[in-house]
Amino acid sequence: MGSPPLVVGVTGSRRDGSYTRQAIEHALAAAERAGADTDHVDLGSVDLPLYHPDRDDADSGDAEELLARVRAADGVVVGSPNYHSTFSSTLHNFHDYCGYDEYEDTVVGLVVVAGGGTIGSPLDHLRITMRGVHAEVVPEQVGIRNASRYFEDGALTDRSLAERVNGVAEAVVEAARRRDLADEAASPSADD
Ligand SMILES: Cc1cc2nc3c(=O)[nH]c(=O)nc-3n(C[C@H](O)[C@H](O)[C@H](O)COP(=O)(O)O)c2cc1C
Repeated sequence: MGSPPLVVGVTGSRRDGSYTRQAIEHALAAAERAGADTDHVDLGSVDLPLYHPDRDDADSGDAEELLARVRAADGVVVGSPNYHSTFSSTLHNFHDYCGYDEYEDTVVGLVVVAGGGTIGSPLDHLRITMRGVHAEVVPEQVGIRNASRYFEDGALTDRSLAERVNGVAEAVVEAARRRDLADEAASPSADD
């Protein structure tokens, strides 16, 4: 890598004023403070039809461009609202387009936002499905319960939650750097 790691945030909500989007923006700001470059794939503002296995990505709206942005990432922070005790269909639809090509050798951190009190099952489901595409999911994760209490004017106001979201982003940056060092050690360049 040598250069800063690239951390991409993926927001799995289409709602205007989404708390998930605000949490991902918070995570990306923390990743930048930790030395990463960042990009935000906000699924609330893309053209992404329902995944169809018989259709090429090139015929699927923004799919090709979005997949390329995830493939370029060293780390991804994935955020989803809790919808019926799992992650959102918006995120799931994007994830159906993705596979090993996007996530192999990629570090992933998880953030879930819930209107009520349940955050465990969507976090578990995300962890399992990210493992399914061979992502390296860091142990740090955050679930924000009763989300409307903790966001104001586009910001996460609860200090402890804010620090935990920072912690996920920092863990992703650190693990991406570790991976890069291990790769360099495994295949030294011709100048070494
Ligand atoms: C279809 C749907 C299902 C939901 N299911 C749950 C749920 O099972 N548990 C919960 O705590 N909140 C549930 N909620 C509330 C959302 O988690 C909450 O509104 C959250 O803030 C949405 O994320 P966003 O602000 O990023 O859009 C649901 C909302 C919708 C629209």
